Amino acid sequence: MEQNLSRSLPPLFPQSPFQGLPCGTASRDFLSRLQNFPELKNDTFLRAAWGEETDYTPVWCMRQAGRYLPEFRETRAAQDFFSTCRSPEACCELTLQPLRRFPLDAAIIFSDILVVPQALGMEVTMVPGKGPSFPEPLREERDLERLRDPAAAASELGYVFQAITLTRQRLAGRVPLIGFAGAPWTLMTYMVEGGSSSTMAQAKRWLYQRPQASHKLLGILTDVLVPYLIGQVAAGAQALQLFESHAGHLGTELFSKFALPYIRDVAKRVKAGLQKAGLAPVPMIIFAKDGHFALEELAQAGYEVVGLDWTVAPKKARERVGKAVTLQGNLDPCALYASEEEIGRLVQQMLDDFGPQRYIANLGHGLYPDMDPERVGAFVDAVHKHSRLLRQN
Ligand code: CP3
Repeated sequence: MEQNLSRSLPPLFPQSPFQGLPCGTASRDFLSRLQNFPELKNDTFLRAAWGEETDYTPVWCMRQAGRYLPEFRETRAAQDFFSTCRSPEACCELTLQPLRRFPLDAAIIFSDILVVPQALGMEVTMVPGKGPSFPEPLREERDLERLRDPAAAASELGYVFQAITLTRQRLAGRVPLIGFAGAPWTLMTYMVEGGSSSTMAQAKRWLYQRPQASHKLLGILTDVLVPYLIGQVAAGAQALQLFESHAGHLGTELFSKFALPYIRDVAKRVKAGLQKAGLAPVPMIIFAKDGHFALEELAQAGYEVVGLDWTVAPKKARERVGKAVTLQGNLDPCALYASEEEIGRLVQQMLDDFGPQRYIANLGHGLYPDMDPERVGAFVDAVHKHSRLLRQN
C-alpha cells in the first residue's frame, strides 16, 4: 500500500523542503495548482484565524484523531505508533476519521511532535500504557554531537509531507488541514528526560547548569522546525499550530529566556520562508499549555492565534491580549465527562465569554482515550448551535 502511494504521489522534497520551490509572488499558489488541491468549501476556521468575521464559531478538538474512537483503535492496532506515523495512507485515514463523525471545521494531520527528535537521529519508541521512551536521552553537552544536521533532519520528514498532501487531496476541500510541530523547549524536555516527566528536573537542570548548551540545542531544534513547517505548508497544510505543551514547568524568567525567543523565531522565520518560497501565508497558532503567565508576550510573538488551556478565564484573557489576535480554546476536556445538557451549558458560557468574533472553539487540551464520542459530538453541535444564536441576538 505504502509503496503504491509513494509511486502515485509527486516526489516531495527528496533533499530539502525548499528544493524546486518557486520564488516570487507571481507563483504564490503555484504548488497548490501543481498539486491540484480541491477548492476549499468551508473557510470558517481560516477566516476566524485571520480575524475576519464568521457566521458561526468554528470548532475543532486537540487530539480529535485519537483512541476515544473505536475506528482509530482498529486502524492503529495494525502496527506500532511511529510506523503508523510513517505511513501516509494510515495518517490520512486517522485524520479523516473524526470528520466522518462530526461536523468539525478543521482537520489536524495525524502525526506526532516526536518525529522531529527522531529525524535528528534519536531513537524514540511509543510504549503502550507508558508513553514515549528515548533509550538514549541527551545526558551531556557532547551528546549534542550525536544529532544530525538540521537541514538533513528536515529532509528526513518527507513522509509527513506526503501524508499532508494525500490528506489535503482526500479532504476534497471540506475543511482546512492544520499542520503542527512541538516548540523547541517542549521537544528538548523529551530529548533530555527520555520520556514524560512530572517535574522536568533533568531538562531544567540543563537550563540552570548548562545554559549555553541548552541554547545550542534549542537553536538546533528551531533550525529543523523552520524548514519542517514551511515544508508542511508547501505540501498542503493550510494553518500551523506550535505546541509548547510544557510551558507550565517554566516560570516567567526561564520562559522568557528559553522558550519565548524560540517561539518568536519560529514564527518570524516560517513567515519569511513562506514568502521567499512564493507560498501564500498561513495563520499560525501558538498553544503554550499552562503558559498563562506569558499571555501578553505570546499574543505579540508573531502568531495570529493564541490557544488557551482551561485555567484561563476567557474574558480576562481577552482583556490581557487585546483585539489583535484570535483566541482558541478552552473547555476543560474533562467537561466531556458531564451530561450533554451540562456540556451545552458550559459551551454557552464559554461562547458568551469569548464573544462571537476572533474566536475558535476548542478544548483546553487534548481528548482523553476514555471519552465518549457522543459527548464530543455534543460539544461540536453545541458550539455551532449556540454561536449562531449568539449572532442573531
Ligand atoms: O488529532 C490530533 O491532535 C493529531 C495528532 C497528534 C498526536 N500527537 C497523535 C498521538 C498531535 C497533534 C500530537 C501532539 C503531541 N504529541 C504533543 C503536543 C500536544 C499535547 O498533548 O500537549 C505531545 C506532548 C506529544 C507527545 C506524545 N505523543 C505523548 C506524550 C504521547 C503519549 C500520551 C498518550 O496519550 O498515551 C503520544 C502518543 C500519541 N500521539 C497518541 C496519539 C493519538 C496516542 C498513542 C497511540 O495512538 O497509540
